Amino acid sequence: MAYINPEKERGTINFARGVPPPEAFPTQQLQECARAVLEREGSVVLQYHPAAGFVPLREWLADRYGVAMECVLVSNGSLQILDFLTRLLTSPGDVVLVEKPSYDRAITLFRRAGARVVGVPLKPDGFERQALERLLEEEKPDFFYTIPDFQNPTGITTSLAKREKLVELAERHDFWVLEDSPYRDLRYWGEEVSVIFSLGSEKVLHLSSFSKVLSPGMRVGYILGPEHVVSALAKIAEDTYITPNMVSQGVVYEYCRRGWLGPNIERLKGLYRPRLETLASALQAYLPQAQWTRPEGGFFVGAYLPSEVDVSLLKAKAQEERVTLSDGRGFFPDEDGSAFLRLPFCALSAPNIQEGISRLGSIVNMLIR
Ligand SMILES: Cc1ncc(COP(=O)(O)O)c(C=O)c1O
Repeated sequence: MAYINPEKERGTINFARGVPPPEAFPTQQLQECARAVLEREGSVVLQYHPAAGFVPLREWLADRYGVAMECVLVSNGSLQILDFLTRLLTSPGDVVLVEKPSYDRAITLFRRAGARVVGVPLKPDGFERQALERLLEEEKPDFFYTIPDFQNPTGITTSLAKREKLVELAERHDFWVLEDSPYRDLRYWGEEVSVIFSLGSEKVLHLSSFSKVLSPGMRVGYILGPEHVVSALAKIAEDTYITPNMVSQGVVYEYCRRGWLGPNIERLKGLYRPRLETLASALQAYLPQAQWTRPEGGFFVGAYLPSEVDVSLLKAKAQEERVTLSDGRGFFPDEDGSAFLRLPFCALSAPNIQEGISRLGSIVNMLIR
């Protein structure tokens, strides 16, 4: 992500950036936690430490998820762990499966490791079952990478039936399920669906992060999995950076220990829910041609435009009207995705969302005519 220049950005409505806004950060509370942890545990967090992460935070997470501490590794963000996992589980030429569309950085990372990235189309309730079953008759994937809760980039949540099916297929065909759920706690409506990791299979690894519920700049993400996988990852971590960022992990632990995470998540839901409501009604009013699934949480809506709209032209025209869009093709592993728009609503005010979608609607109408 490019450094954001606020001067250049002024007046532009940016739908290309899926990051928390500054008002999402509990800065004062974090200052307090930093001071407290440096006073109390300075000699620990300022020192090298075992690579699996700050022990009290690992214990806190183990308790939260009902696993042993040896099954938890905390690292510098979950993307770093995904990189370690890719090194551990794949060799050049291997097949890995992703939802289509999926998180663009994950696709890039798998490709960089030499993997052949194959997409399984995504339906409004998760991956297309028959397509996955057909693929598994032909391919022997190392893993299926899934973002089952409020997916990046579509906002879609995978149903319980499909989560159960995935576990069954992973056991039968012997591949790993990488469940990446950084948005899971940001549910604005509806009923929670069980994490795949809790469905009783040793083939599931659960990744998550404090980036979306606290701060991405702190770089604290984690994985839960069988002990042998966690210790293999810890070895890669140790050979990469010796010790993760202990000061950040200490601050995050202090924040959690004080019981502040839950109330912060509730505050964030109050911030983001109305933004999603505004985006949903603006799409209905100004872009009725677009097809999208209404998310129940997270940061994104993914919209498909009619095929007659040339999205590169739309992007260029939108930029002239000071609306920035990301390139939909980056989210697709093996077909163009040029009709796809990822619309993050988290960092935009309601009036900007309204105005941005209204400008896009006018351009689309002009392009269709
Ligand atoms: C699905 C998904 N996984 C992982 C990440 C990276 O998270 P972290 O900041 O913990 O590295 C993101 C960030 O946008 C994401 O959307």
